[in-house]
Amino acid sequence: MNQKSLFSIRMRASTGGKHVSGAERIVSGECIDVTVQELVMRAREKDRAPEQIVVTIDSLGDILPRTLTALDVVTLKSDDVKSARSAASRLLQTAGVSAHATEVAIHHLSKGAAPSGGNMRGAIIMDSLSGERLESDQERGIRVSRVDWSEDASRKIQEHLSEIGLTHFRTRDALALATKVAQAPGVVAELCWSDEPDYPAGYIASLRSGYVRFPTLKRRGDPKGGRVYFVDSNMLDMAELIRYLQTETVLITDVGDCNPAIDPDAYV
Ligand code: COA
Ligand code: AMP
Repeated sequence: MNQKSLFSIRMRASTGGKHVSGAERIVSGECIDVTVQELVMRAREKDRAPEQIVVTIDSLGDILPRTLTALDVVTLKSDDVKSARSAASRLLQTAGVSAHATEVAIHHLSKGAAPSGGNMRGAIIMDSLSGERLESDQERGIRVSRVDWSEDASRKIQEHLSEIGLTHFRTRDALALATKVAQAPGVVAELCWSDEPDYPAGYIASLRSGYVRFPTLKRRGDPKGGRVYFVDSNMLDMAELIRYLQTETVLITDVGDCNPAIDPDAYV
């Protein structure tokens, strides 16, 4: 293996054929061993060890990653799921998503967006005005991959997020994914909440709003979650969008502002 080029290292873990966790890194050759170890440890940190852990290592050869600056981060305090969702809806509408599409998106994520009734394996692509679903496979959706923080940015974002009380690795990973998605051709905004029952936080993200986090976008214990990427159909080249999201290599080399939590009414 060429030690100078970069490598995409991806981990996915499953039990009984069901996906339980995943993570990825983009690193130089000399960091492969330690990164594999970190990712395997991450897979085993779950309450119950997974039955299968798959780690894939691909050389990126001559590919130079696209570099991006992370979205700014702010948390909007909310007392309950209803008020959080209503603030999230308002922000999505400010970003250009219609009230109808926002309602449809929240409905899908709440009930389980896959036609079989469960969570999808990736994200919904939704027309930001009509609310029509555009992904060809509604069980799978589109899964964003090939994105990571540079070493320097990773250190900085960890520090800055910790300063505002966000120490969970999920926030760092979600911010990386959301930063890549916000820059995608044709994407207007994103809505996400986790499918982990004990992780009720979620976010909306767009170039305009940055990454706006809500501590309770779903009820604790609720196993339903997902992601919706709202797109402007007039500007959409679906093949290019999917290529960018799934395969274009993106390294986040700069961090944005990480702001302390505020009340939704104070957010302008
Ligand atoms: N949910 C459910 N199933 C999943 C899954 C997920 N999140 N990720 C992978 N799988 C399963 C599916 O069965 C999938 O088959 P499908 O393509 O038909 O859905 C199969 O594993 C293979 O998936 P693939 O994406 O080819 O695996 P991979 O090993 O290349 O990548 C991940 C796996 C989890 C790393 C990648 O999908 C991902 O989610 N990357 C983003 C991780 C992240 O947070 N990055 C931020 C970095 S800072
Ligand atoms: P999580 O934040 O990992 O709990 O994931 C929440 C939901 O987002 C999952 O149920 C999937 O529908 C979707 N998802 C998971 N990984 C990705 C990804 N890499 N890209 C897009 N959507 C994803």
